[in-house]
Amino acid sequence: MNEKDIYKGIPLDKIPWKRETPHDILINTIERLAPLTSHLLDLGCGLGHYAAYFVQRGYNVSGIDISHTAINHSKQLFESRNFKGDFHEFDLRKPCNITMPTIKLAYEFEVLHHIFPEYREMYVQNVCKFLSEDSYYLSICFSEKDQNFGGEGKYRTTPIGTELYFSSVKEIQELMSQYFRILEVKEIELEGKPVPHQAIFCLMQKVKF
Ligand SMILES: C[S@@+](CC[C@H](N)C(=O)[O-])C[C@H]1O[C@@H](n2cnc3c(N)ncnc32)[C@H](O)[C@@H]1O
Repeated sequence: MNEKDIYKGIPLDKIPWKRETPHDILINTIERLAPLTSHLLDLGCGLGHYAAYFVQRGYNVSGIDISHTAINHSKQLFESRNFKGDFHEFDLRKPCNITMPTIKLAYEFEVLHHIFPEYREMYVQNVCKFLSEDSYYLSICFSEKDQNFGGEGKYRTTPIGTELYFSSVKEIQELMSQYFRILEVKEIELEGKPVPHQAIFCLMQKVKF
């Protein structure tokens, strides 16, 4: 399936990752590191619910997603609640020149597994460009240790037809440590539909090398 089609042919209320409130691990990490009113960047923001949650808490949020449907939904959600936020439709596997405000923390929640290894350098270079020195970057993506979801091995196909790449901690460390100082990396379990997911949590900071 083409990544741009991920929201096509599936009613929005049937999307397995759709939830109004972010997972505790995301909320806790953001609240620990980013003071209220600072600017967050939601990479692969999906339908915009997490961005809306953080705006309601007192943050500023920008979002990027490859999907036209997702970006439209995010914009409409913000308009309907009278929230400020800017959303960009963009494929983060391509060189990106979107100008961002000063971002305190960028997060991607269940996104990097959509980016296959050959595109990951480009993806991370984009993230690096969006951030300033000392900004934080949190990546949470599926782990190859997952035994419940989409079959077995590194490349898997999910029940809704998306093709994903499941990483190891070592791969994430090798990729990210070229651009960021890794503050914490660990395997975690995430609540998921229809089954829980084994995922890799990697918290980083942009530093001068
Ligand atoms: C599993 S969903 C997670 C959405 C959201 N982060 C959440 O947790 O609700 C993955 C999201 O990544 C987006 N995505 C996948 N590949 C992308 C790419 N190359 N560039 C930008 N966004 C991408 C998809 O459109 C989708 O919205």
